[in-house]
Amino acid sequence: MSSIKLDIAKSGVVITEEMKAHAQQANELLHSGKGAGSDFLGWVHLPSSIDEKQIAAIEAQAAKLRAKAEVVICIGIGGSYLGAKAVLEAMSNSFEHLHRKHENPTVLFAGQNISEDYTYELLDAVKDYSIAAIVISKSGTTTEPAIAFRIIKAEIEKRYGKEDAATRIVAVTDKARGALKTLSTNEGYPTFVIPDDVGGRFSVLTPVGLLPLAVAGVDIKALVAGATAMEKATDASVPVDENLSAQYAIVRNELYRAGKKTEILGSYEPKLQYVGEWWKQLYGESEGKDGKGIFPASVTLTADLHSMGQYIQEGERTLFETIISVAESKHTVKVESDAENLDGLNFLAGKRISQINRMAELGVQLAHIDGGVPNIRIELPRIDEASIGALIYFFEKACGISGYLLGVNPFNQPGVEAYKKNMFALLDKPGYEEESKRIKARL
Ligand code: PA5
Repeated sequence: MSSIKLDIAKSGVVITEEMKAHAQQANELLHSGKGAGSDFLGWVHLPSSIDEKQIAAIEAQAAKLRAKAEVVICIGIGGSYLGAKAVLEAMSNSFEHLHRKHENPTVLFAGQNISEDYTYELLDAVKDYSIAAIVISKSGTTTEPAIAFRIIKAEIEKRYGKEDAATRIVAVTDKARGALKTLSTNEGYPTFVIPDDVGGRFSVLTPVGLLPLAVAGVDIKALVAGATAMEKATDASVPVDENLSAQYAIVRNELYRAGKKTEILGSYEPKLQYVGEWWKQLYGESEGKDGKGIFPASVTLTADLHSMGQYIQEGERTLFETIISVAESKHTVKVESDAENLDGLNFLAGKRISQINRMAELGVQLAHIDGGVPNIRIELPRIDEASIGALIYFFEKACGISGYLLGVNPFNQPGVEAYKKNMFALLDKPGYEEESKRIKARL
């Protein structure tokens, strides 16, 4: 039994035997490796293949960084950043930075943009703290993290000398290829390998996500255990009637065929905002190709009801919504009674904030359905490592099935290269001389 519940009753889709057969075939293709992109299916059995030894190696390296640094800067972009950021936000106290006693180092992120101000402010913010870095790039050649790493590496070497720097910098990259691999070998950095057959956006349960999370004090064993349970619950041997990932994949594809071209992932827990960002990459890069694909958007509620709510309720009727609902809050806060009741809120006295949030959620769901926005609901029992691990694998498996149902290769991202060529040409990178002339003439 999965810890996650899926409610598709308000999506308006009735799953037929034919739809089940297609989804079953798609799931079998993921398991047999006979579908498109079969070189990148290492994630399918990844959770159950992570053994005690791998976890122990990651935790041992994390302990070394924790002992040395108050701030660990995690450098990466896309799949080499979003998974760790999403889980870290979900598991952290929302006001961590104001808590005086820091049991765990603060994990900050860099290399996910090329902003000069971000870079300056990051270096400035850490100047009074001891620092270390984890540099993550599967290809080892991505420009954004490479620039950030050059700057942060120089800062670490300036502060601690080259020898100590080599104990404060850990690389996560390909086992053999790429500039980062060469650099790490030359400098003697401890290195973790990203398996060849796991693509960036499916890599959160490799050292790409697990190392920074272990540094931050997240229970990575429980995270992996949650994902492993979902791996079993969505195996090809599990019938579609019990396979939540297959059901979600079917429903979203049926809605897409019916003209619902945008899926909005929403949550009433602000801690899950970055789960939305991770999910957008997972689905956007996997499905948005060949002129097809649902556009993945995300909202945090109720905040965004006051910005996007009008559009969702009455704008173009091309939307459907998937809500991640959390059954149980960690803490209890109640609305108190007020003798004067000037704000008129005494009707809420004695209620928990989570009860009010739940009524908002149910009210919004019905309003949106009435407005022509079909609704899918994913319920987590609570926000903890096991549930988040299960959610990650649930979405990954559904993404693989969904991509095959859509008829695309969900495991490549040819479109990501287009901007790089232009950027290198504009920056006069050696080898881009012809492109340089052409592109500059267009400016
Ligand atoms: O999913 C993907 O493959 C991409 O989004 C990559 O994760 C992203 O481009 C970063 O690549 P790399 O890890 O090679 O630096």
